[in-house]
Amino acid sequence: MKRTARIRTSFLPFSRPTIGEKEIEEVCDSLRSGWLTTGPKVTRLEEMFSKWSGGQEAIAVNSATAGLHLVTLTVNLQPGDEVITTPITWPSTVNNIVHCGGKPVFADVDKSTLQIDPAEIEKHISPKTRAIIPVHFAGAPCDLEPMRGLCEQFDIALIEDAAHALGTRYKDELIGEKSEAAVFSFHPIKNITTGEGGMILCRDPERATRMRKLRFHGISRDAWKRYTRGGVPQYELEEPGFKYNMLDIQAAIGIHQFKQLDTFNSRRKKLAENYKELLRDIPEVLPLGDVPYPHQHAWHLFVVRLNIEALTVGRDQFIHALREENIGTGLHFPAVHLLKFYRDNFGYRTGLLPNAEWNSERLFSLPLYPLLKKGDQSDVVEAIRTLIKRFKR
Ligand SMILES: Cc1ncc(COP(=O)(O)O)c(C=O)c1O
Repeated sequence: MKRTARIRTSFLPFSRPTIGEKEIEEVCDSLRSGWLTTGPKVTRLEEMFSKWSGGQEAIAVNSATAGLHLVTLTVNLQPGDEVITTPITWPSTVNNIVHCGGKPVFADVDKSTLQIDPAEIEKHISPKTRAIIPVHFAGAPCDLEPMRGLCEQFDIALIEDAAHALGTRYKDELIGEKSEAAVFSFHPIKNITTGEGGMILCRDPERATRMRKLRFHGISRDAWKRYTRGGVPQYELEEPGFKYNMLDIQAAIGIHQFKQLDTFNSRRKKLAENYKELLRDIPEVLPLGDVPYPHQHAWHLFVVRLNIEALTVGRDQFIHALREENIGTGLHFPAVHLLKFYRDNFGYRTGLLPNAEWNSERLFSLPLYPLLKKGDQSDVVEAIRTLIKRFKR
């Protein structure tokens, strides 16, 4: 096949963090100070989150995965207990249920928005259901009200995977401010970063105290309280825990990133609107639908679905061809219930969750981050247009 020149001469990454001089200076300050691990900067970041969320307990951890694990542990699952979650998520949402001894039960998503469907959740509630873990997918909120109703009715926990949803609003509430528990991620592709990291917001101070212990081995005092002047080196072990604490070096980045959240998110919103406009006359590439209730989108991801019936190639070949054109893309997410571990150990099969499966074969994510330029977006869409022409049936 005759190949024309590439649309871009340099590779456009799927994501890139925005790191400024303030973050760099603050990290250097930590390095020079002699205090690298959990300390005053972690406390400062937690205080910023607590204030922002109207007084929720804030617990910094070294990833959202760790945060989800800690929150799920506090549900105290017993063998045979079930937790309902979405199949369209990063595996760690589901893995943590298994780590806590529970059985993941998947409820299908809405075909257009990819948010977990509360009516599907209700169908899966059984006497063994102990928790629901929805994901605010791509930065739009899932429909919390009906889920809260179910949790109250059946006395089960609601753990929000808010990895994508920093700054998202559901109706008149900020995600996290009214949550029983919500977990945010600061991985480098997220709306703000600490390198790796996460934050738990939760309502119950007792639950928060237990998670603070569990994030540092289960002991009653972290290093700052043991090794600084005035600290006491003794400790007691109350419950075997984990090494999930955030470093001051990470919090140093987060303090300055968090201050820019609104700026970052409004830039993401503008870019998302521009993609919608640019893709309007390409019917083979379908963006997600808007959730049908008042909301503010954090635009963590811009996910599209490829009309594979109209093309001679599938999604995987299409994104490979995009890479050949120097355009990076992401996959958020192949349906978790069809990944090997969940097929082999829980017997999940194709056909169980038709909306998730339909999307799983067709979806991919376009580059979206504050440093992206409108010219980059034009390159992305021009490359898509070129490939659609090349692969049209
Ligand atoms: C929906 C969802 N949940 C949880 C996580 C885990 O976040 P982390 O990488 O901070 O552990 C991710 C990461 O991409 C995610 O997308």
